[in-house]
Amino acid sequence: MKILITGGAGFIGGNFCHYMVEKYPNDKFVCLDALTYAGNMETLADILDRQNFKFVKGNICDTEFVDQLFAEEKFDIVVNFAAESHVDRSIQNPKIFLESNVIGVQTLMDACRKYKVARFHQVSTDEVYGDLPLDRPDLFFHEDTPLHTSSPYSASKASADLLVMAYYRTYQLPVTISRCSNNYGPYQFPEKLIPLIIKKAQNNEKLPIYGKGENVRDWLHVLDHCSAIDLIIHKGKVGEVYNIGGHNERTNLEVVKTILKVLGKPESLISFVTDRPGHDRRYAIDPEKITKELGWKPKYNFDTGIVATIKWNLDNQAWLSHVESGEYQNWLKKQYKD
Ligand code: NAD
Ligand code: TYD
Repeated sequence: MKILITGGAGFIGGNFCHYMVEKYPNDKFVCLDALTYAGNMETLADILDRQNFKFVKGNICDTEFVDQLFAEEKFDIVVNFAAESHVDRSIQNPKIFLESNVIGVQTLMDACRKYKVARFHQVSTDEVYGDLPLDRPDLFFHEDTPLHTSSPYSASKASADLLVMAYYRTYQLPVTISRCSNNYGPYQFPEKLIPLIIKKAQNNEKLPIYGKGENVRDWLHVLDHCSAIDLIIHKGKVGEVYNIGGHNERTNLEVVKTILKVLGKPESLISFVTDRPGHDRRYAIDPEKITKELGWKPKYNFDTGIVATIKWNLDNQAWLSHVESGEYQNWLKKQYKD
């Protein structure tokens, strides 16, 4: 079996490459990534010389390049992680989100149709469902919760989901979609909340919390996300959507205080800053479908997973300093100017 993993030099795609190359030594994996600011070859350093792994640099929006790659490689399965993934960046520059997250998906699916790929799996997000009120802990996102997006990022991901289902219905392209909650773990780019706070706390810098810090996210360890996608591409039903989440809801303030406690740093570092425009209040996944139908169960819980993730960040300073390019420094200055 030959599997294309797009966006494999990023956070979740990189973890998925490690997980799959290790677990399936007899399958072949090709990682396609444009190496944007968020993609880093060092994330793949440990597996670059494996017999069953190959890296190709390229853009999923480049029709000719994608067509040629599919013609040469004859993939059985395509798993699409490639995307612009940061909400704050989408607020500053929506266009690139529409290009990579929507046109890129169309380009990949056209190639899947042409070369009769047996499965196209789209890695989506729980953010397509919008948000839930803070005072209704009884409410969760189900697979049939209406799409109701807040940011250009989530709107681009929801657009892609609609397009994927349209290709299923119109062309019978064999597709699946997964919608996962917030991930944490090794190799996460330090623009996202958890690695950003670890880095700043370690340097005794102020920790920017949007609004009052009461927004809730449902955290899942990245390797639990990987095991869920593995199950979906092997056992999931074509044309279906699967929610992925482990019931680990925390307010942002709770997450930041946990990190400070583990690092032994004072809460006085916390600084409440201007809220994100359109900031989603609460995400919470109901994972019953994937649990019952595919037997998926998360291995990690947040309390131990976050300690391991903090340790990973402390132990991998070289990786962190290399991903912090000039572009990233400019972003920090622009985003956190007050
Ligand atoms: P990331 O930003 O860390 O990585 C994205 C990768 O895609 C990078 O390596 C980048 O170089 C590559 N890429 C971007 N545009 C490309 C293009 N046009 N062509 C080829 N490669 C391109 O993102 P992530 O956090 O690993 O997220 C991966 C996927 O998972 C995304 O689709 C995201 O929407 C989804 N997701 C993320 C989370 C989360 O908490 N991070 C949760 C649920 C779903
Ligand atoms: P983030 O990691 O960007 O993921 P998402 O917006 O996709 O959920 O943010 C997680 C939460 O943390 C979100 O509620 C926004 C908040 N946040 C801050 O309070 N400060 C920050 O500097 C960042 C990046 C995020």
